[in-house]
Amino acid sequence: MSATLIAPSVLAADFGNLQRDIEMVNASQADWFHIDIMDGVFVPNISYGMPVLKAIKKSATKPLDVHLMIVDPDRYIDTFAGLGADVLTVHYEACTHLHRTLQAIKQAGMKAGVALNPHTPITVLESIITELDLVCLMSVNPGFGGQKFIETTFEKTNQLRQLVAQKNAQVLIEIDGGVTSNNALELKNAGADVLVAGSFVFGAADPTNTIKDLKTLTK
Ligand code: DX5
Ligand code: ZN
Repeated sequence: MSATLIAPSVLAADFGNLQRDIEMVNASQADWFHIDIMDGVFVPNISYGMPVLKAIKKSATKPLDVHLMIVDPDRYIDTFAGLGADVLTVHYEACTHLHRTLQAIKQAGMKAGVALNPHTPITVLESIITELDLVCLMSVNPGFGGQKFIETTFEKTNQLRQLVAQKNAQVLIEIDGGVTSNNALELKNAGADVLVAGSFVFGAADPTNTIKDLKTLTK
């Protein structure tokens, strides 16, 4: 199995020192930037939008993994492509015509991801898994950083790994929410390819070393 990708979530960065924090991630062993876009409708919180993403893109030297927690994401696919998103993930629960949405994301030149809320079963992906580049399993209820990891995520990761194998799909499995050095290895062993970590990285006394520790743990 290949090394796990680590994607620090910029939501937990210090926005007064955003460039400093982006440069920290650039210089670290992290693989991607995870970008949380919240609209205050799909989730009970508003994060940041296009001008901030533009500023991140200006300094970031690693791929941008954009997680849309918004209703009707189709409206903004071209905008996020223009802003430099490499992976664009929409929520299963927010898309009536998911297949069409995924085609549009790929058409715009990005990798297409789908995120599942903690209550949404893996089985809903059976008919769409071969169209996906990434599945993001929410291991907290989306909307806020710094929440407690939901333990049933291990079992869901296992189930998803089995579905991916059964359908011979080329899909990265990403885990988002409450990731720390206490669950990282178990998540990798359950089948995770990408681990998002917000508060665990940016809340640490030494974020660069914390990223390194997560990489070493999941090698
Ligand atoms: C939650 C977001 C996460 C969040 C993770 O809605 O999707 O990406 O930033 O933060 P932590 O790692 O603090 O749970
Ligand atoms: Zn996220």
